[in-house]
Amino acid sequence: MSATASFSCDLLSPELCIDPHPLLHQLRREAPVYWSPQLNGWLLTRFEDISLVLKDPRFTSASTTGRIARMPEEQREQLRPLKDSVTLWMGHTRREDHQRFQHLLKKYFSQRTVEQLRPKAQALADRLLDPVQARGEMDFVHDVAHSFSAGMIAEMLGTPIDDIAKLQRWSRNINLLFRALDFEGLMQVQRTVLEMGEYLKHFVDARRQQRQEDLISILLDAQLEGAIHSEDEIIANCILLLSAGHETTASMLSNGLLLLLQHRDQLERLKHEPELYPSAIEEILRFDTPAATLSRLALQDVPLGGATIQAHQTVYVALSAGNRDPAIFPEPDRFDITRRFGRQLSFGYGISYCLGAPLARMEAQVCYSTLLRRMPGLKLSSQVPDWLPLPPLWRNLSSLRLTF
Ligand code: HEM
Repeated sequence: MSATASFSCDLLSPELCIDPHPLLHQLRREAPVYWSPQLNGWLLTRFEDISLVLKDPRFTSASTTGRIARMPEEQREQLRPLKDSVTLWMGHTRREDHQRFQHLLKKYFSQRTVEQLRPKAQALADRLLDPVQARGEMDFVHDVAHSFSAGMIAEMLGTPIDDIAKLQRWSRNINLLFRALDFEGLMQVQRTVLEMGEYLKHFVDARRQQRQEDLISILLDAQLEGAIHSEDEIIANCILLLSAGHETTASMLSNGLLLLLQHRDQLERLKHEPELYPSAIEEILRFDTPAATLSRLALQDVPLGGATIQAHQTVYVALSAGNRDPAIFPEPDRFDITRRFGRQLSFGYGISYCLGAPLARMEAQVCYSTLLRRMPGLKLSSQVPDWLPLPPLWRNLSSLRLTF
């Protein structure tokens, strides 16, 4: 099997973004370590290769700051506030700082704390469904998924639930960071980071005077104990939490509901056998991986699958492809909410494994069980999903129109 390729494909084509799996299967079979001139990087599609790279310290995720560092001096200077903020995001820091922050946040994101947030999630789900219930129809993406996901981040940070429209706008803009390759795009991200930073500073000041039961208060206590070094570090990591947790969760909720509605027999089973929620949510995450591709930068030459990934080259790991690797998941293209498996890649792997995973799983359970209880006759308004292509190789639902 050749590692590189006499293989040619347009990884940016919108059609391919809508249904990338046939090509990803072919790549995994014929060129699992594929050099893409279009991406100017390697694309990995095998579960094992992806797992190896994600846990290998010879690869780093600090590609955003690297991108800014390669720009002309004048642009670098203008983007300094963005670089200063991103440099403090956990995972973009030195390994000791990453671990220090992880240690702090792991305590917060424990199963116990997440269970304490469950009543708030339930109240939020009901609050979002109350106004649409009488209409008999809704756009789930707009009316529920984004607001629910942003609302839970507001609950966690301790910011007002009425500000969720702002959080959604900021999260959309900040996530351009992973797609925008030009100076103007990065300047737009910077404006949002500064605006959100100002907003958060107000709450940090207020919690400094009087603590509440929220994450900002916990981080301020940690600063007093010396486990956090500055207020900037608190603000930068709250921005990271929004960017890491909002769109991913909204996408899981929307794409997962579409899957359930396309597989009515499984939806009916879930209604009658609620003990299937945990495996159904894992299967949704496996089958329709919300953060489809991650990137890493090689710090030194690394041999992999017969190729050599050279120092400073970028590697794209297609989590969506790893999650459909037939070597790990028999009949990977079959959606089956009773499927049992060891682990899937949707929350990453290794040192940067998603801290919000227990929160995201709890949110999915509360959201779907509330929907199915309150709107048992839920149906798709159209059989043609309203996909928005997100090159390379992914898409999200722009809307999900339902009747009930
Ligand atoms: C279904 C929803 C979610 C998915 C699919 C998801 C996916 C991921 C993935 C793939 C990573 C690894 C990134 C990398 O290795 O470069 C990650 C990291 C992370 N996620 Fe999530 N995430 C979700 C929800 C959340 C939520 C709700 C939060 C918190 C509000 C969150 C916070 C984080 C943080 C802080 C990291 C960085 C961890 C570290 O660097 O140590 N995520 N997530």
